[in-house]
Amino acid sequence: MSATITETLRKVDLNTVEDAHQYDFSSLTPYVHPPETKKDLPWAELVTLDLEDYGRPGGKERLAKQLEHAVHHVGFFYVKNYGLTDEQVQQQFTLAKAFFDLPTEEKAKYEVDYANADYNGWRRAGRSKISTARDNVEIFNIPKFTQDFIGKYPQPELVKAHLPEIEVFAKALHSNVVLPLLRLFAIVLQLPDEEYLVKQHTYEKKSEDHFRYMIYRKRTPEEHAASGFGQSTGHTDLGTVTLLFRQPIAGLQILGEDGNWTYVSAQPGTITVNLADTISHLTGGWLKSSVHRVVAPPEDQWQYDRTGLLYFARPHNDTVLVPIDDSPVLKAAGVKTRFEEPVTMEQWVKAKQTLQLNPEIAAKKYAEAGDGTVEVIGGFKDRRYK
Ligand SMILES: [Fe+2]
Repeated sequence: MSATITETLRKVDLNTVEDAHQYDFSSLTPYVHPPETKKDLPWAELVTLDLEDYGRPGGKERLAKQLEHAVHHVGFFYVKNYGLTDEQVQQQFTLAKAFFDLPTEEKAKYEVDYANADYNGWRRAGRSKISTARDNVEIFNIPKFTQDFIGKYPQPELVKAHLPEIEVFAKALHSNVVLPLLRLFAIVLQLPDEEYLVKQHTYEKKSEDHFRYMIYRKRTPEEHAASGFGQSTGHTDLGTVTLLFRQPIAGLQILGEDGNWTYVSAQPGTITVNLADTISHLTGGWLKSSVHRVVAPPEDQWQYDRTGLLYFARPHNDTVLVPIDDSPVLKAAGVKTRFEEPVTMEQWVKAKQTLQLNPEIAAKKYAEAGDGTVEVIGGFKDRRYK
């Protein structure tokens, strides 16, 4: 796909950033990907969609065919040729690195509002426990560039100085990857209206899409042992799809239908895509919200941090999460709603984020249920996978 960034760049007043030049890319330490592991790991076999084919005659149908098995049985796949240059990707990794290198007291000014499940901003490491160790994950979430969010969250000077590029990048992911994928899902579901899902995911209307910088800090051998060599339990993401940029540190694992965990490999030039809870709710579970986890990397990568770039796509906040009723595929499968009462996307996000951002609340609810599950909202239960 040629660079089809259709949105026009919003003017950002960089005059508000004091001495913006100190944040020029020529002044920032460039991010360099760590080397891949030499270890022979059980890698997942995933299909790769070439989005360049999307605009060619018959391309959408070919790609939809390629996706059929992946979206129903696996929930993970790769895309390539998504219309952003290597340099643009590299710059975002460099910004992520520079952000996480800021002093803790500086990042703390932008800390998320955990109690209110408001996840935009910085999430500090160590809020949850894995075995006997604290987690080593830091996150910085940047909301959509729309009137609902602009100016609502304070951001460090480093980020403000680069908002124009971040905006172009995030919007390109939405228009070059998320929307085409939603049309492909519509074709797989044989919906009469190919734009059905796109209409629930327009950029301008209020939704909780966000762009994320993430880092798993390297650990000492003792810390690895204390964490049981795990960094998170198996989970599903809460939105429509999650986009994850290539990350050579081997750690992301997928739970297969056979009950085995396999690793996602770092394919050059690709984004890894996984389907998440909301698209599953909208299809009564037919589109698979994939269970995944991040574990400690192999020993030859212990000396490196694991830096990530992600985009989370979600439907409009007022979307009611019931199965689409004019899909012959879903009709034939006899899918049912997954909730006991109507639940909107806004309610779903708040309920699941409350559990994700507040490990003590989640632990209490899991303990009360006593069967390894937790009710998120409306009778829908989540569970942890080991
Ligand atoms: Fe996840």
